[in-house]
Amino acid sequence: MKTIKRLGVLTGGGDAPGLNAVIRAVAKTAFYRFELEVVGILNGFGGMINNEHLLLGDSHVSGILHRGGTILGTTNRDNPFRYPVGKEDGQTIWQDVSEQAMDNLEKMGIDVLVVVGGDGSLFIGNELYKKGVPVVGIPKTIDNDLSATDITFGFDTALNTATDAIDKLHTTAESHHRIMILEVMGRNAGWIALQSGMAGGADVILIPEIAFSYESIIEKINWRRSLGKKFSIMVVAEGAPLPGGETIYQKQIADNPLLNKLGGVAEIVGREIEHRFGLETRVTVLGHLQRGGTPTPFDRNLGTRFGVKAVELAVSGQYGQMACLCSGAIQSVSLEAAVAEQKRVKPDGELVRAAKSVGTSFGD
Ligand code: F6P
Repeated sequence: MKTIKRLGVLTGGGDAPGLNAVIRAVAKTAFYRFELEVVGILNGFGGMINNEHLLLGDSHVSGILHRGGTILGTTNRDNPFRYPVGKEDGQTIWQDVSEQAMDNLEKMGIDVLVVVGGDGSLFIGNELYKKGVPVVGIPKTIDNDLSATDITFGFDTALNTATDAIDKLHTTAESHHRIMILEVMGRNAGWIALQSGMAGGADVILIPEIAFSYESIIEKINWRRSLGKKFSIMVVAEGAPLPGGETIYQKQIADNPLLNKLGGVAEIVGREIEHRFGLETRVTVLGHLQRGGTPTPFDRNLGTRFGVKAVELAVSGQYGQMACLCSGAIQSVSLEAAVAEQKRVKPDGELVRAAKSVGTSFGD
């Protein structure tokens, strides 16, 4: 086994609360337990492509545990295997610049690269690993849609933010006897909507995994009204398709559909409920508030545990692995398995059944 001297760490994709806890854990474990150096690669894979990095010291990682965002910067655009190098006749020219990125890793003197990311960044990490780069991964995303870990860090904080928003909407909904709709993130997985909706006592939760009809929503709302409850709370996942099957995007990127921006479904649902059934409706889109702010203690601790595990994997030569939480214990799984399947809500799973048992409607 090769003796390693220097780790590299990068944060890729959309940011998530707890990233700084991970960076701090990687650096402190490397410095003080294993006497390694740590290079922070700036702005995700962009920094690897453009050779932008920073040799981290204790001062860089002190006092960051409670801070949201990432001190290293991030981007969800720079894929070394498909990188935009210019335009011709209005069309983007894409190039595989992975060799250049790998050369830069060597120039930075990095022996093992720690990739902290969601499915996109971990997929790139795995491709680099298959090309011979020693890589270990750490699962990050507020969406919680990685199948190889019980939970990703960032999710718990997003859940708290969304639940807090529902609590706030509750009081004003009640005063005005309105239908209040909250749109939350999560791409095409309904974890944030489901769990914040359950925690906030939403009457209707719409998620991408369960098809809904307006009639079913109205049935639920009318039932509540018959009990004297004149307001209702709905939580809608940004990726929930309309009854006809259409997914709503705020923005579509023609030459890179992976960057399409979901959003706007709650506004359409709200208008439809108001129009068809004459119920006063207001829509709130929570947006990037779910990604910002102070990480919860759970996310700080999970990030720390993942960071420590990643360094242990690196030091023991277990490349191509990702730290994960499985049945409550920190373990590891191959990157290949980690990116193979997206984790989505099971329509007949225990969580949905629990929500239904207490009267929550999924519009089905
Ligand atoms: O994957 C995290 C996430 O916040 C999704 O929930 C959301 O659809 C997307 O990223 C938003 O991306 P951007 O920051 O590019 O708007």
